[in-house]
Amino acid sequence: MVKNAGELDSKFVAGTYKRFDVCLDKGSGCVVWDESGKEYLDCVAGIAVSNLGHAHPKVLSAIRKQSKKLLHCSNWFNSRPQAELAEVLAKIAPKGLSRTFFANSGTEAVEGALKLVRRKTGKKKVVAFEKAFHGRTMGALSLTWKQKYREPFEPLEPKVVRAKFNDISSVRSAVDADVGAVFVEPIQGEGGVNIPSDSFLRELRELCDEKGILLVCDEVQTGFGRCGAMFASELYNVVPDVMCLAKALGSGIPCGAVMAREDVFSALHSGEHGTTFGGNPLACAVALASIKVIKKEGLVENARVRGEQLVAGLRSIQSDAIVEARGKGLLVGLELKSSAWDYCVKMINAGLLVTCPTENVVRFTPPLTIGEQQINTAVEIARKILA
Ligand SMILES: Cc1ncc(COP(=O)(O)O)c(C=O)c1O
Repeated sequence: MVKNAGELDSKFVAGTYKRFDVCLDKGSGCVVWDESGKEYLDCVAGIAVSNLGHAHPKVLSAIRKQSKKLLHCSNWFNSRPQAELAEVLAKIAPKGLSRTFFANSGTEAVEGALKLVRRKTGKKKVVAFEKAFHGRTMGALSLTWKQKYREPFEPLEPKVVRAKFNDISSVRSAVDADVGAVFVEPIQGEGGVNIPSDSFLRELRELCDEKGILLVCDEVQTGFGRCGAMFASELYNVVPDVMCLAKALGSGIPCGAVMAREDVFSALHSGEHGTTFGGNPLACAVALASIKVIKKEGLVENARVRGEQLVAGLRSIQSDAIVEARGKGLLVGLELKSSAWDYCVKMINAGLLVTCPTENVVRFTPPLTIGEQQINTAVEIARKILA
């Protein structure tokens, strides 16, 4: 008899995740199926990872081609996919971010950025925001806001001063002579889809310039078209000194990156940072194919248009349970008065995959390929459950 995956999981997998009771089996475009064959509209996309949808032919073809040639080779050697991906990233990144270090995940990209900041500025303190999420390894965890994640593991490494997101005067108070950088998500994803005012990131840029400190934008969740621009900092006309990337970069093959200007990266010398798997040929070949598809299929624009449709649809739902719907592009949050988990379970049972990054926010992060009809379907399922 085939063993139940949930039972195996609860017996053998470390119990660090609170999971929904669904075992996903396969996907195509914006649709996924569980092991029993039940179909779901995917408004999770592996948390903003599968931006091209599932089983995109260009991704499959890149995997096939590269895996026949070379899966892995070590950073002792050059490889063409890594070098070419670095060139492409330099072309699409905010102006001047011309150098890339390749990692495997978002948290590792943030670790790399922390080391870069330490080396470039020699300063040990950084500013991070309330409700921020930057990952779970010890350095990145110190920047992450939720006490539940941090406190059991203290003392953590970098000295972090907290400021209020969207409140420049609180950042000004937090910055002193020992601060080397401000770490910010242009739009906070895990914190519940928190969108800055039109001026906040520009004010932050100006403050960093005035104080001579680095601005690090964590675009792990917001990057690669998710918010209706290739990178969300572009929506606010802000160019960071350092940018962290992961999630959608590899379309599901783990791939992360730290990007910075030449004069910033030159502070980190040969041998001072590295990883076995970072920038491996398979991940980089897939990332190259993914970026091409994002551009060719106009997915940045689709994210903007479909995101507006989704927010408008959610706002049209008449329900006492709702506080508000908000979003940029296809990073959308529906804030509720009570437990988002319970509503997520109902939506999932009704065939709509969603997540709840905080207690009271249901988050929608569908593939950027999602169509008009599919957004209508998502809204109608949400309406049925919330009305
Ligand atoms: C903004 C941001 N930074 C960093 C991370 C950590 O990325 P990973 O889970 O790949 O380590 C996340 C993950 O959700 C994130 O949203």
